[in-house]
This record gives sequence, C-alpha cells and structure tokens, in this order.
Amino acid sequence: MQISDNWPGYSLDLFTYPQHYYGDLEYVLIPHGIIVDRTERLAKDIVQDIGDNDIVVLCVLKGGYKFCADLVEHIKNLSRNSERFISMKVEFVRLKSYHNDQSMQDMQIMGGDDLSKLTGKDIVGTGRTMKVLLNNIEKYKPKMIKVASLLVKRTSRPDGYRPDYYGFEIPDLFVVGYALDYNEHFRDLNHICVINDHGKAKYRV
Ligand code: IMP
Ligand code: MG
Repeated sequence: MQISDNWPGYSLDLFTYPQHYYGDLEYVLIPHGIIVDRTERLAKDIVQDIGDNDIVVLCVLKGGYKFCADLVEHIKNLSRNSERFISMKVEFVRLKSYHNDQSMQDMQIMGGDDLSKLTGKDIVGTGRTMKVLLNNIEKYKPKMIKVASLLVKRTSRPDGYRPDYYGFEIPDLFVVGYALDYNEHFRDLNHICVINDHGKAKYRV
C-alpha cells in the first residue's frame, strides 16, 4: 500500500489522541484502524506462504511491539479457524540506532537466543538496522527467514532493503505512534503521525 509524497494526511481533529501530545503533531499519516486492517491482510499472506512450517516470530523491540502483537494475534485467529494449526514461538530482540530523528552509526543488539523463521519489525528506514539483524540471524541457519515490516520509507538510497511483507510504503518522513518513538516519546499514541517542529524541540535530547 503506497502513501504518496503529496498525501496531506488526516486532520488530528478527526480522531482522538492523548492530550499530552496536543500541539506536538502535524497530522495523522495512518489512522490506527487502517494499520490493524492492513496487518490482518499481511497475516493472511504470511499464513499462506508459510505452509506447514512452524514459526518463530522475532519481534524487534521496542518499536515493533505493537505491530508484532497485532500480527501474531491475526495469525492466531487465522490458524484457529483453519485445518492446520500453526505453532508459534515468540522471541524478542532489542535494537537501538536512533538519536532524535537521526540514524546513528553504532548499533546495539540485545537478546534473542532462539533462531528465527520470521521477523516482525516496525519500520525500515535506511534499511541499515535490518541488514545488521539479518547478518546475525543467518548464523543460526534457519530453514526460512521472512521479514515483515509495517512501514517502508521511500528513501533516495537505491540499496534500500525490501522486506518480504510490508504494510505501507511511506514518504521519507520521521513518523511516530503505534510504538514508534521520538526519544522514547509517542509510543503511547495509536495512530501513526508526523511530529511537528514544536514536538521535536520539546522532546529533543
Ligand atoms: P534504519 O536503520 O534507518 O532502517 O532504521 C531502523 C530503525 O530506526 C527502525 O527500526 C526504527 O526503530 C527507527 N526508525 C526509523 N525511522 C523512524 C521513524 O520515522 N520514526 C521512528 N523510528 C524510526
Ligand atoms: Mg526509536
């Protein structure tokens, strides 16, 4: 699903969102309901492709926790209502690479001791984070690795990483909400929104 560069988004007044973020956001890029509906379809595609294999879901914290939880929930529902029940394990890794809205050079990976067949991720920006993570997972020689990311940014970089499944291709904007943060703030916002200059200044570190 493509969100074009000239998409003006939805006015914040059309939705509800936490009062502590009033004045900090520009507009709603993707409302929560659409995120959940699109994720349901990704779950269906994944279940179709995965065949009779069991899955180990590797959730990339912290930003991927909402997407991962909703995706797992949809996969569970689909498998419950079908003949073949998919067995799922869930593992977590934590990656940290951003300071303010800038991608940093050094990347920390913490946790994740089981091999994975599927990874659930929040967003692919430059794709740098994903490449580092995949290099680490491949050491475990899993039978199959599939990457699901809610968002893919349209960056100018031609070597940009492409996940196997993604929810939305978005303009190269810094977005927050649905577990995505700006210096740890805005994870408690349901919709995916674009932060304004006031919000950036307020939570800058
Ligand atoms: P990449 O290495 O540039 O692909 O960035 C990957 C990670 O940075 C993601 O997993 C996010 O946690 C974070 N990130 C990238 N873009 C954004 C954004 O627009 N908002 C919030 N976090 C972001
Ligand atoms: Mg972050």
